[in-house]
Amino acid sequence: MKNLSTKVAFITGGTKGIGFGVAEAMMREGMNVAITSRTKEAAEEAAKLLNSQSKEGGEAIGLEADVRDFASQEKAAKEVVKRFGKIDVVIANAGLGHFAAVEDLTIEQWKETIDTNLTGPFYSLKATIEQLKVNKGYYITISSLAGTNFFKGGSAYNASKFGVTGFTQAAMLDVRDYGIKVTTIMPGSVATHFNGNEPDKKDDWKIQKEDIGKLVIDLLKMHPRTLPSKIEVRPTTPPSN
Ligand SMILES: NC(=O)c1ccc[n+]([C@@H]2O[C@H](COP(=O)([O-])OP(=O)(O)OC[C@H]3O[C@@H](n4cnc5c(N)ncnc54)[C@H](OP(=O)(O)O)[C@@H]3O)[C@@H](O)[C@H]2O)c1
Repeated sequence: MKNLSTKVAFITGGTKGIGFGVAEAMMREGMNVAITSRTKEAAEEAAKLLNSQSKEGGEAIGLEADVRDFASQEKAAKEVVKRFGKIDVVIANAGLGHFAAVEDLTIEQWKETIDTNLTGPFYSLKATIEQLKVNKGYYITISSLAGTNFFKGGSAYNASKFGVTGFTQAAMLDVRDYGIKVTTIMPGSVATHFNGNEPDKKDDWKIQKEDIGKLVIDLLKMHPRTLPSKIEVRPTTPPSN
């Protein structure tokens, strides 16, 4: 994509963590950005913070839209088009994790994980695909290394992330003929609020949210003929090594 300052992004779950880091990186490029959250208050608070930091003219809006609800994502996408005129980039980022042995994992935890991490990104693409077609846009999912490496206690999270990795790759084949680029980013540990973490000095060895932000900007700026469709990204030196 040339001249990112004319582009508009829709980021699910942008109130903190990776989504917020991607929004910050985009606004440094002068992009307009819509972030979503399960609550109106959190979305508006985060958008206010993004706008207070903005020096390059990009604007942020915060919208309540639960990724588990298609109608809610469709409504949010319409609001973005009303406010900014279009959507060029979609980052299907919102996610959570429940970790327990299968016998202890509740039905509700299973459903919440799959509905958020797998069905959510499908709804995000369904709700924005016409915009992405018209604008030859870019759709990026935030999967995980847990989308290729399984681990004990990870049945729901692994299932959701293996699922979203497969979904994204197949969707790429479906939409590439429209000129839409599709990438799944599969991070290892990132210093965020994931699973109740409070990011601080103990997380210095992890990938930082601004690193994923920079990676997304590099993808958007890549030559139109070239598509890194699946990206594994990990901390260089985890503490155990
Ligand atoms: N942190 C890591 O080590 C790591 C590694 C690999 C992949 N990931 C993936 O990265 C993505 C972002 O996670 P993070 O690490 O940035 O975690 P985080 O700091 O906890 O942020 C999660 C974001 O998702 C939003 N969210 C959660 N459920 C939602 C829903 N149903 N509808 C809309 N928004 C929702 C939250 O917003 P509200 O709370 O305001 O609703 C929040 O903005 C997830 O898909 C996660 O699986 C994380």
